[in-house]
Amino acid sequence: MTEKKPYPADMMEKLVSLAKRRGFIYQGSEIYGGLAGTYDYGPLGTALKNNIKNIWWRMFVDGRDDMYGMDASILMNPRVWETTGHVAGFADPLSECTKCKKRFRTDQIEDRTKCPECGGALGPERQFNMMLKTQVGAMEDSSSISYLRPETAQGMFVNFKNVVDSFHPKMPFGLGQTGKAFRNEITPRDFIFRLRELEQMEVEYFVKESDWQRAFEEWRVAMNTWIDTVGIDRARTHEVEIGDGDRAHYSKRTIDFEFEYPFGQKELYGLAYRTDFDLSRHSEASKVDLSYRDEEVGEKFIPHCIEPSFGLDRTMLAVLLSAYTEDTMGDSPREYLKFHPRVAPIKVAVSPLLKNKPELVEKAREVYDMLKKDIPQIMWDDNGNVGKRYRRQDEIGTPFCVTIDFDTLGETPEHKDTVTVRDRDTGNQKRLSIGDLKNYILEQIK
Ligand code: GAP
Repeated sequence: MTEKKPYPADMMEKLVSLAKRRGFIYQGSEIYGGLAGTYDYGPLGTALKNNIKNIWWRMFVDGRDDMYGMDASILMNPRVWETTGHVAGFADPLSECTKCKKRFRTDQIEDRTKCPECGGALGPERQFNMMLKTQVGAMEDSSSISYLRPETAQGMFVNFKNVVDSFHPKMPFGLGQTGKAFRNEITPRDFIFRLRELEQMEVEYFVKESDWQRAFEEWRVAMNTWIDTVGIDRARTHEVEIGDGDRAHYSKRTIDFEFEYPFGQKELYGLAYRTDFDLSRHSEASKVDLSYRDEEVGEKFIPHCIEPSFGLDRTMLAVLLSAYTEDTMGDSPREYLKFHPRVAPIKVAVSPLLKNKPELVEKAREVYDMLKKDIPQIMWDDNGNVGKRYRRQDEIGTPFCVTIDFDTLGETPEHKDTVTVRDRDTGNQKRLSIGDLKNYILEQIK
């Protein structure tokens, strides 16, 4: 994708509607009126999300010899968050309108003195902590307070010593994990952009202090490769160097990867040099030595850390927005998702040309069953006429539609045991032998 097409004026409405109608994303707890800041992924959204997560894991954990996978608990000892400064300082500025009583995040509104909804005067600004508190155990006093993690990162820092003791990794090496995180955002908004329950995919990459710039650059390049791999439009993506006063308290250098959403250019991912902040703090607070011993040179030091952090929900949004395409095919307008085949939730749809011809249905079932073994993200589709099926599959981004017709059965002898394969983007069809079909599709979804 090189050329940047403008979004249609009502892009978000169109995407939200398609996502609900076709089973990608639903409002959380919808039948009870929803719960702000939560969304539920439906069957196709879950498939898309799992594909993205699996590609991430393959690219950044299984595909590298210097990475170790993790899956830490969402609930952690509250001292973790006291040590990192989250309990005291993970906050956004908030003001309440003196008239309508609505609350706003003041760094997101133009005039910090006036209510953006009713025009009333805004009250004094205060810091609102975004940690979601919960009670763990049977005691309902302050001793049982815990927090739902606001980032997956700390699960990796607190397990640093465990992994080093089990695997004795050579420096540099990293830990990677995917999982839920929770933030009591003041104003969740823009569909799945700003959520209260979100999912992250994070790497904590440990280096010697002298090596941090090289590693930072390596991860900057890797993040761009990732953006291309999942089909996020690079022309809409921008690297923004975060200035001294604006970085998180733990970071000495941060690049935000921003994406041009229909509602403005905003953060997609972050890449931060966290120095030795986290391991040093946890070492001090827990009294457990979290230094690393380099046996080769007999050196002992607290490693420094480079952190590429990817929001999974924002990845979903950027992938969906990059894929959303409107064109005209034949004589009629078409709305479809031009996913890269490797992320598409359904890779191939199989149809008999006519569903009331048992011999066609039987042959199509045979082809479907054969493909399903190696390509589980497959759909049987015999609803309506072939043209309508193609449009429905285009709308959910299925790259290939396979149709079994009378030629497959031998009506034209030279076409016996071949099927038509239709390409989503061009609408072109070609005939392939059933024997070649599986490898043809597997080759393109890699
Ligand atoms: N461990 C570092 C960290 O958590 P962050 O910039 O606060 O850094 C990392 O979050 C990524 O998580 C963001 O770049 C974004 O993709 C995602 N993210 C953060 N807050 C989010 C929210 N409220 N809703 C959806 N995604 C969010």
